[in-house]
Amino acid sequence: MELIKVNPQAAPQIALIELNRPKELNALNPQLMQEVRDALQELDRNDQVRVIIITGNEQAFAAGADIKQMADKSAIDMLLLDQFSTWDQIRKTKKPIIAAVSGFALGGGCEFAMTCDMIIASETAKFGQPEIKIGTIPGAGGTQRLTKAIGKAKAMELILTGRFLSAQEAHFYGLVNKVVPVEFYLTEAIALAKEIASMSPVAVQLAKEAVNRSFETLLDEGLMFERKNFYLTFASQDQKEGMQAFIEKRKPSFLGR
Ligand code: CAA
Repeated sequence: MELIKVNPQAAPQIALIELNRPKELNALNPQLMQEVRDALQELDRNDQVRVIIITGNEQAFAAGADIKQMADKSAIDMLLLDQFSTWDQIRKTKKPIIAAVSGFALGGGCEFAMTCDMIIASETAKFGQPEIKIGTIPGAGGTQRLTKAIGKAKAMELILTGRFLSAQEAHFYGLVNKVVPVEFYLTEAIALAKEIASMSPVAVQLAKEAVNRSFETLLDEGLMFERKNFYLTFASQDQKEGMQAFIEKRKPSFLGR
């Protein structure tokens, strides 16, 4: 594992996965997500593990999909790359996953936190789907999961403006379970994990599956719809301009084609 660190016994029966690309604010590339998928599949099979925590570092949970790696891709490159099949496998994890979020959880980073089952946030956490600012849209579930988590009006505002939600706002809108001072976000996640780990693992697995079933049929359809529209943005000049402008640290000029 190059881009993540895994500790299967961070506490008794609690595993910890740390995203570890600090220089890039844990930007999520296909390799990192494949490592997460492999780690989750192994932890799912490990009888000593009952709950999994995924975290980044204090500055960033993850600042989104890796813009530098996708800036010059075509819509068909994105379709054939099929990076989200890894995410589909991640959401099949049977054990509960808690995201412990500090700092930026943006774009794919926010989508990844929402793919987990619960979120514990530090007071410094910032959530958002800023893809619109670089000429594209969320592609890993943001339009679907954020809307279900915080309601249509606020989700529409965040997705169309790229504004961020503070940790307190995220708590107010029901996106996160709890907000704690930055020095405690990991200990708080471990405390929640321990409480769940003391329950019947069979009942926990079945309960997780049942809660997810409350929206999964619609979610499957919604994710496919979002994914195709995300790919379609890669056929636009605006996506090329938006991502290039990010890389060159300048303001983009969108032409609407
Ligand atoms: N991809 C690639 N590199 C990234 C990145 C990303 N998503 N986010 C940050 N980085 C890199 C920066 O390019 C910079 O690298 P260099 O030092 O080599 O220049 C480094 O991480 C530090 O970032 P900043 O200098 O920008 O740090 P900052 O504190 O000034 O700003 C930030 C932090 C507001 C998070 C800003 O980095 C930012 O806006 N990042 C992009 C957020 C974003 O648009 N995410 C959505 C991506 S698209 C997506 O996720 C699609 C999807 O749905 C799957």
